[in-house]
Amino acid sequence: MKKTRIGVFFGGRSSEHEISIKSAKSVMKSLDKTKYDILPIGADKSGHFHFGADAILSAMPAAAQMINDLRSAGVIDEKNSFGKLPEKIGADLAEFLDVAFPVFHGTFGEDGTFQGLLRMFGIPFVGAGVLGSAVGMDKDVTKRLLRDAGIRSAKHLTFGKYESDRISYADISATLGDIIFVKPASLGSSVGVSKVRSEDDFKKAIEEAFSYENKVIIEEFIKGREIECSVLGNDYPEASLPGEIVVKRDFYSYSAKYLDEDAADLQIPADLPAEIIDDIRKTSLKAYKVLCCEGMARVDFFLRNNSEIFLNEINTIPGFTEEISMYPKLWAASGLPYDKLLDKLIELAISRGV
Ligand SMILES: Nc1ncnc2c1ncn2[C@@H]1O[C@H](COP(=O)(O)OP(=O)(O)O)[C@@H](O)[C@H]1O
Ligand SMILES: [Mg+2]
Repeated sequence: MKKTRIGVFFGGRSSEHEISIKSAKSVMKSLDKTKYDILPIGADKSGHFHFGADAILSAMPAAAQMINDLRSAGVIDEKNSFGKLPEKIGADLAEFLDVAFPVFHGTFGEDGTFQGLLRMFGIPFVGAGVLGSAVGMDKDVTKRLLRDAGIRSAKHLTFGKYESDRISYADISATLGDIIFVKPASLGSSVGVSKVRSEDDFKKAIEEAFSYENKVIIEEFIKGREIECSVLGNDYPEASLPGEIVVKRDFYSYSAKYLDEDAADLQIPADLPAEIIDDIRKTSLKAYKVLCCEGMARVDFFLRNNSEIFLNEINTIPGFTEEISMYPKLWAASGLPYDKLLDKLIELAISRGV
């Protein structure tokens, strides 16, 4: 039987370039070689695409280690199966690939832009479509749709850069409380996110958030536990057991996520009463539909007073390393091992079509 040709896309222009490389390495390592031919496709930080191991090695030093490791493990042998590779991204890519697996995190990859390109090229792809990707990336739009569906999330206000000199801590804290969170509307990895307790903090936080993006949201502080749930499927999605990020710092900041090894522990599955587990899973599935997701998403919550759940955000291309990422680990704990999860995602991409 002919193998399915999978293009695994990684890197990209976002601040999560390096994390994407790690996720993509895990994906390529675990895809079943008896079923799939794998073509690695790297996007460098300026957005140029590089097809196959040789091109990636010469253009993307950050991915060299990963490509070398995969080659010596015999994971990629694209020369034989893919023939002459394209030099630029274009519609002819559809001749090479049966399915695209975007393992980009953040802007220009997780946000619908790349999904739009793949649709134009007529290539089926793993994960949310254009709309679900764009909605999931924008925390303001996400929260407004959740509000419409009666799903609780932290109260928030949204501001554009043009009005930044009119935003005052006094006014906002009168509405949202003394402790507030300031964040760019559509970044990830906690980049540009600040916890604010004073006028001084506020000024810095606003300036920082607007340095990344022209739209910023400000939220009430929800004191609680951080719980996450994995969802998988198209029309009939399923929810995993929830897991917990036990954060041992002020909040789950960029450094707590990636630099400081002792800052957080994953508790899989989360230690929660049955009715909360049920609430988290049902709310995850409802939000998944409301936010137009397909394929997969990780849904993140705060749990206040061990009773009230607040949906924080949804990630349509969650971290995907086999060893440490919550999304696949929750599925493994729910009975779906990593390689079977990949099979399922590819099946979902093919059955949706383009
Ligand atoms: N309203 C809030 N209340 C309490 N903690 C928050 C709030 N918003 C964000 N945080 C903290 O900041 C972290 C990052 O914020 P989040 O909105 O998830 O951004 P990102 O998309 O970058 O992950 C969260 O995991 C949590 O620790
Ligand atoms: Mg988050």
